[in-house]
Amino acid sequence: MDSTLRPLALVTGASSGIGYELARLFAVDGYDVVITATGPGLENTAEAVRSTGAEAIIIPADLTQYDGVEALYHGIRDLNRPLSAAALNAGVGLGGHFLGGTELKKEFELIQLNITSQVHLTKRLLPDMVALGEGKILYTASISGTMPTPYEAVYGGSKAFLISFVEAVKAEIADSGVSITLLLPGEVDTKFWHRAGMDTSKLGLGVKAPPTQVAQEGYDAMMAGKDRVVAGKSESKFIGRVLNNILPDTTKASQHAKGSRPGSGLE
Ligand SMILES: NC(=O)c1ccc[n+]([C@@H]2O[C@H](COP(=O)([O-])OP(=O)(O)OC[C@H]3O[C@@H](n4cnc5c(N)ncnc54)[C@H](OP(=O)(O)O)[C@@H]3O)[C@@H](O)[C@H]2O)c1
Repeated sequence: MDSTLRPLALVTGASSGIGYELARLFAVDGYDVVITATGPGLENTAEAVRSTGAEAIIIPADLTQYDGVEALYHGIRDLNRPLSAAALNAGVGLGGHFLGGTELKKEFELIQLNITSQVHLTKRLLPDMVALGEGKILYTASISGTMPTPYEAVYGGSKAFLISFVEAVKAEIADSGVSITLLLPGEVDTKFWHRAGMDTSKLGLGVKAPPTQVAQEGYDAMMAGKDRVVAGKSESKFIGRVLNNILPDTTKASQHAKGSRPGSGLE
């Protein structure tokens, strides 16, 4: 297909896990895909995208940095093609006791990526979509955003922020023609857990949903213009859709702590 006729999508955090799968789904569906992350894994994603006949445009960017987000946005603008869809998916976790078990520097980096870069990208990308009167954005949040998450206290807070922020902005642009969808996965089998230092926790060692399934559920919800989707294992869906809407925060916190506490998976 002539590339000027193909719609263009953006996937952040496209070098592995859920983002890799989302990039592949866009490509299979006829989109060219801008893929971004910091690591070498992007080449692998580009190969998967190109194997479908789609174009893969790699724009490496460290989204913890203001200049990284700006460079990504300007890289997309320079393509002179409207962005039809964006999966704003990049994010990291961080496990450990808040007192003495985690570094403040790492917590600030998490906030920069999971919160600041999401606000920043929304500020840049959304006006162009609203001006066109069309577009789709999928935000990867987490069921962790629907409960306090001890031993990953800043992570759960970052996803709670994202859910609140996205719902608020969505209400402001309700009649714009742009659709916004929240993806709330439970535990997914990606590098996330090791990277967050949660290898010895019950959650880190437990059964997880495959990223293929979670990405597909998010992709389908975005394409259907749904408000949000809780994705992954049926247990995660029950927690995200039912339990976390009725239990008090103190109960949710103590339940979560049983699975997230460092070493809980080795006892
Ligand atoms: N896995 C789970 O159980 C789970 C559950 C709920 C929600 N989520 C959410 O799902 C999203 C994707 O995570 P995943 O599970 O697929 O884990 P993953 O495989 O570790 O993917 C994380 C992605 O974010 C990118 N990233 C990390 N730091 C970055 C930075 N500074 N700048 C730009 N990109 C950066 C990584 O690329 P580079 O390292 O190459 O930069 C990678 O592509 C995250 O938002 C996560 O919070 C995951």
